[in-house]
Amino acid sequence: MQAKILVADDERHIAEGLQMLLADDGYEVDTATDGEAAWELIQGGEYGLVLADLRMPQIGGLELFARMRKAGITSELIIITGAASVDSAVEAMREGAYDYLEKPLNIGRLKALLPKALEAYRVKQANRALEERIANLTRFGNLIGQSEEMRRIYTMIEAAAPTNASILIVGESGTGKELVAEAIHNKSNRAKGPFIAINCAAFPREILENELFGHEKGAFTGALNEKPGCFELADGGTLFLDEVAEMEPDIQVKLLRALEARSFRRLGGKKEIQVDIRVVSATNKHLKKAIDAGELREDLYHRLAVIPLDLPPLRERRGDIRVLAETFLRRFSEENGKNLKGFSPEALEFINAYRWPGNVRELKNSIERAVILAHGDEVRLTDLRANEQILSEDRELRIPVGTSVEQAERILVLKTFSFVEGDHHRAASMLGIDEDELRTRLAQFMSLQPAGV
Ligand SMILES: Nc1ncnc2c1ncn2[C@@H]1O[C@H](COP(=O)(O)OP(=O)(O)OP(=O)(O)O)[C@@H](O)[C@H]1O
Ligand SMILES: [Mg+2]
Repeated sequence: MQAKILVADDERHIAEGLQMLLADDGYEVDTATDGEAAWELIQGGEYGLVLADLRMPQIGGLELFARMRKAGITSELIIITGAASVDSAVEAMREGAYDYLEKPLNIGRLKALLPKALEAYRVKQANRALEERIANLTRFGNLIGQSEEMRRIYTMIEAAAPTNASILIVGESGTGKELVAEAIHNKSNRAKGPFIAINCAAFPREILENELFGHEKGAFTGALNEKPGCFELADGGTLFLDEVAEMEPDIQVKLLRALEARSFRRLGGKKEIQVDIRVVSATNKHLKKAIDAGELREDLYHRLAVIPLDLPPLRERRGDIRVLAETFLRRFSEENGKNLKGFSPEALEFINAYRWPGNVRELKNSIERAVILAHGDEVRLTDLRANEQILSEDRELRIPVGTSVEQAERILVLKTFSFVEGDHHRAASMLGIDEDELRTRLAQFMSLQPAGV
C-alpha cells in the first residue's frame, strides 16, 4: 500500500487543487490550511510525504520540518515556496528536506518528484524496521541473547532502570550479572553519573570497610591522606555491590545503616556525608540459605532486593548459545587477525550440546582459545577440545604452531600439574618455579579452562 501525502498550504485553493489533482493519479491526500492543523495530522505519523508551504500563519514549513525531526518523524518533506524565499528552501534541503517546488507550481515536475520521494520514504522505513528488529532480537546494551528468558530480563531492566529501587541480581558465575548491572545503570537517568563496582568478597573486613566508606587523614596508622570510598564516588550514579553475600556481620550492619539513611561517616570522620546513589547488587548464592545459616542479615537482604532479578544459567536458555558463540567467534577472529568464517558442523554440535557449567564466561573463553588455535577458515572440534588433550594421560605435549607464548605456558603448566596428579611440590620442581608461583599461575590458568569437559 502506498503511503499517504499531506498538503499544507494556507491558500485553500492550492491545497484542495493539489488534492484533486493527485487523487486523480491514485494518491491518497489530506489537506491542512495552517501549520498547526498540519502538525496535528503529521503527529499521527502516517504520511510518507508532506508538501508544505514555507510561509503559513503560526507554523511555517521550516518550523514543521524542525518539529518533525525533533519528534523522530521520518516522513519526507517537500517545501513549496515563492521565488523570493528559495534560499530558505535550499537551506532546508541541506538539513534533509527532500526537495522544494517554486510557485507557481510546475505540475509536471511535481508529478515526477512524488514517486521518488515516496520511494525514499519507503526505503528509509524498511531500513529502520530492519534495524529495530535486529536490535531487539539479539542484543540489549552489551548483553547478547534473544531467548525468551533474556527478553524477559531486558523488559525487567527497561522497567526497573528508571526507578531508584535497589536491584539484586542472582545468577550462577559467568551468567552476565555485571553486564546486567551496567545495563541497568546505562538505561537509568543516572547514566551520565558514575558506575562504581566493588567486589565485597575480594577484601578482608577492614579493607572492605575502608573501600566502601573511605577514611579521614589520620584515621589509622598509615592513613596519610583522606580517601573517599565507593559510596562517595558513586554519588549521583550507581553503586554495584558484587558478591554481596560475602560480608562480615558488622559490615552488613554498617551497610544497612548507610543504605537506609543514604548517609554515612568516613572511618575516623565525624561528619555525616549525604549521598544520592542507586544500589545494584549481585550474588551467585542461594540467599535464602545464607539467611537461614545466619550468614546474611534478613533486613539487609530485603533492603538490597527490592527488585530481585534472576539471571538463568546458559543451559536453561540454549537458544542464546549460537548467537553468543558466533558473536564471540567474529570478535576474537578480528582481534587476532584471523579470517575464520564459522564453526565446523561437529564443533557447532558440541557447542550446542555441552552443558556450559561456567556459563557465558566459559563459552567466551573457550571460543577465544579455539580461535587462537584454529587453522584454516573455521573453528573445528579439536580446537574447542584442546583442553581435554592437555589433561589426557599421555606424557607428551603437542603445541600447534600459532600458539602464543602465554597459551603455550598455560598448556605446559596444566599438563605437568595433571601428570603429577596435583602434587604442587613435584610440579613446581619439574617446572623450575617455586610453589607460590605455581599456585598463582594455576589460579590464573584454571579460570580460563572449561570446567568438566
Ligand atoms: N549475555 C551476554 N552477552 C555477551 N557477553 C556476556 C553475556 N553474559 C556474560 N557475558 C560475558 O561473560 C563474561 C562474564 O560475565 P559477567 O562478568 O557479567 O558475569 P558474572 O555473572 O558477573 O560472573 P561472576 O559471578 O563470576 O562474577 C564477561 O566477559 C561478559 O562480557
Ligand atoms: Mg561478576
